[in-house]
This record gives sequence, C-alpha cells and structure tokens, in this order.
Amino acid sequence: MQSSSAVLHIGWMARAVAALVATGRPVTCAVAPGDAAAARAAGARVLVVPDPTSTTDVLAALARHGLAVADFRAVCSGLEFCLLNAAAVAAVGGGGRADVHRALAMRDKYVQKQAVRAAGIDTAGCAVLDDLGTAGPPDLAFPLVLKPLDGGGVRDTRVLADAAALRAAAAAARAAGASGPWLLEEFVPGAEFKVDGLVRDGEIRLLSVSRYLQNLIEVRQGGLVAHVVLEPERHRELYAGVHAVAAAAFEALDHKDGVFHLEVFQHPQDGRIVFGECAARVGGGRTDEVVRRRHGVDLHAEWARWALGLPAGEPVAPTVADGAAIGGMNLPAPPGVVTAAPTVEEVLGRPGVVYAEVSLAPGAVMPDTTAGSNLRAGLAVLTGRDEAQVEQRLRELAAWFTDRVVLAPAH
Ligand SMILES: Nc1ncnc2c1ncn2[C@@H]1O[C@H](COP(=O)(O)OP(=O)(O)OP(=O)(O)O)[C@@H](O)[C@H]1O
Ligand SMILES: [Mg+2]
Repeated sequence: MQSSSAVLHIGWMARAVAALVATGRPVTCAVAPGDAAAARAAGARVLVVPDPTSTTDVLAALARHGLAVADFRAVCSGLEFCLLNAAAVAAVGGGGRADVHRALAMRDKYVQKQAVRAAGIDTAGCAVLDDLGTAGPPDLAFPLVLKPLDGGGVRDTRVLADAAALRAAAAAARAAGASGPWLLEEFVPGAEFKVDGLVRDGEIRLLSVSRYLQNLIEVRQGGLVAHVVLEPERHRELYAGVHAVAAAAFEALDHKDGVFHLEVFQHPQDGRIVFGECAARVGGGRTDEVVRRRHGVDLHAEWARWALGLPAGEPVAPTVADGAAIGGMNLPAPPGVVTAAPTVEEVLGRPGVVYAEVSLAPGAVMPDTTAGSNLRAGLAVLTGRDEAQVEQRLRELAAWFTDRVVLAPAH
C-alpha cells in the first residue's frame, strides 16, 4: 500500500462506510448495483461489481476504473462475507491490515474450530462432509449439528438426534439441490452468550457479555432473537470465564487487533465456558447501539480506526444509568404481505425503548423468520432497571409488535 490516504471498502454496510467517511479519508466502495446509490449518498466513490465477495470482480472493477490496489492505503470490509475478500484484495496490493490466513481463521468454521481445538480450548469436535448423500457415519457422537461450511444467520443449521436424522437431512438436501460441503459438529449443551468487544495489541480492551433469551438455533422453532447485556459486577465468574476463553481463542487465531463478535456456551453441568465461534466484525442486529450506550464505545469507529492503522479511541461516558440494564432484539412478525405495522415512533413509545428501526411498510413482504436469525421486521434496543426487567420488556415488545402487524389475506 502506498502513502495515499484513500481507503477501499468492499461491500455495502452503511455504518462501516460512515465510520470510514468520518475519519476524513477518501472512501471508495466496491458494491453490488443495488447498493450503488446508497454508497454514493454516503459520500463514497463507487465501483459497481457483480459480487463484492468475489476477488475477481473487485480486481476487475479496479482495472476498469484505471485503479490499482496499491492506490489505497487500506482495503477493508465490515461485512462478514466480504472480510476474507478484503484481505485477499489487500494481499494483491502487497499487504494490508488483515492477513489472508488470519482472515480465513476468523471466518471459516472448520479452520477456526481446528485452530481453537489445537490450542486446547473447549469447543465442539467437527468434521467436514463433502457430500451429505455419500458420507459414511461420522466419527462423532450424536446429537450433532449440521450446518453449511460458510453459514450465517443460522441458515440451514439443524440439530440431528441420530443417524436416521442425518440420513433424512441428506435426503432433504438432495431434494432441495443443496450442495456441500457441510460441517457436522458435536452438539454443545447449555445457554448461549453473545460476546462483543475490541482487542488491541493482543489486549482485550472491551468485553461485553450478553445472554440470549433463547439460543439462536431456536429461531427455527420461532424463538426470539434477543439479548440482555450482563453487568460485569453481577456476573464476575462468568465474565472471567469468557475472558479466559476469548483471550485464548484470539491467541490461537492470531486475532491481536480489531473488533470481535464471539459466541460461547455455558455448560449446564459445571458452568464451564465452551467456545462456539468468533468473527472479526461488529456483532449483528444493533449490537453497535447497545454497546455504545452501555460501554461508551463506538464499535464501528473502533473498527475504522483499526482498518486505517490508527490507535484505539477513548471510550466516552455510557448513557445507561448506573445499575440499569440494556438489551437488543429483532422485532418479529408473521410471514406474509403486510398491510399495517407499528411505526418507529410507536415502537419508541414502548417501555424502555431507546432505539428502533422498522423495515415493514404496507405492501412489504415479511419473510419467514424461522429461516434465519437475520430475518426480521425491525430492530429495537431497550433499557430497564435491571436485567430481569429488560428481559421482560423485550418479550412484551415482541408480543406487542407481532400483534399489531396486519397481513393481507393469503390466497
Ligand atoms: N455445535 C453446536 N452446539 C450447539 N448449538 C450450536 C452448535 N453450532 C451451532 N449451534 C447453534 O446454531 C446457531 C447457528 O450456528 P453458527 O453460529 O455456527 O452459525 P451461523 O449461521 O454462523 O450464525 P451467525 O449468524 O452467528 O454467523 C448458534 O448460534 C447456536 O445456537
Ligand atoms: Mg454464529
């Protein structure tokens, strides 16, 4: 990379690009056609590509515009599915902040689990099945979890109780024309936690642990995607256990710098923390809004500072009152064509709500939320006097919102 201050962001993510633009650097975005207008409106120069996850597409777009990777000081992405591509494109230009192997270990579920297991960290044993249909019985004990190797948002992820369930999954995948490879993992029992934060020079600067109201896999049965931030003072042992696993995992994955989103389980018998997976990105939903209010850290700004090789910023005062609690959620709704839904203002009027987004408008099609944890009618962040009240308010908000979504009659 050369001395220019220009930065190339791969893919479209409004808050990541805004954080880069806010640093005053010229920002170029390689985005799909449908995102070009939004990227331009954000102040970025735009390279339109068929697929921002493709290295070929990004290199070709640069060439079409008479640009070289080396014209950029940094190549980065805030998007899970573009992180590896950003590292690969940066490598073409002679280097970058995210080394390709490191980016792969923070993204590929098998590579990551092998590295973490090799370091002696407690995590599920796993195996790759190139083809579900022809795979023999796995060398792993049931129950098992089957998932796409490059999954996200719980897509096509299911728990298999026994060999018959694996055979049924293979038949269903064949019928749906779904190709492999697949990842098979030992099922980890226990409650699932969401961990978000920042690591710099190998030191964890921020660690925010939240309890999911229901493990994410339960979205497949209509479970809520919602979390409550746990107060470190009230959960000292849990925080210490999560910190130890996070520190060991980052060491194993060589993730010394940047933001992180980690998922862990707490074993129901002995309370030990079991590593689930981790990513070098800001957590999904409105993790950014929750963490900023609770910890005074703007995760996108910190991600941008890391991407540009700048030192970490200073946290500001949290806006959540001392002793109070905060959480965030996906707003759920039944699938179908929407004729009426609550507005953002109405959601903001509900108890404790401090932030809301609603993506439903009359005529919009609400997807079936059981297909993925990233399918939702909107997002909300709310506070309460303690964790129990936040949890109760999240559940009540979900029920209130769902009740007020009106669907067109199905034909
Ligand atoms: N080995 C396992 N044991 C128990 N539950 C699991 C296991 N693997 C996955 N799950 C459940 O399935 C969910 C989705 O799995 P995973 O996190 O691997 O996939 P994902 O689709 O990448 O989700 P994300 O949106 O976090 O990227 C997890 O959050 C967890 O609830
Ligand atoms: Mg996950």
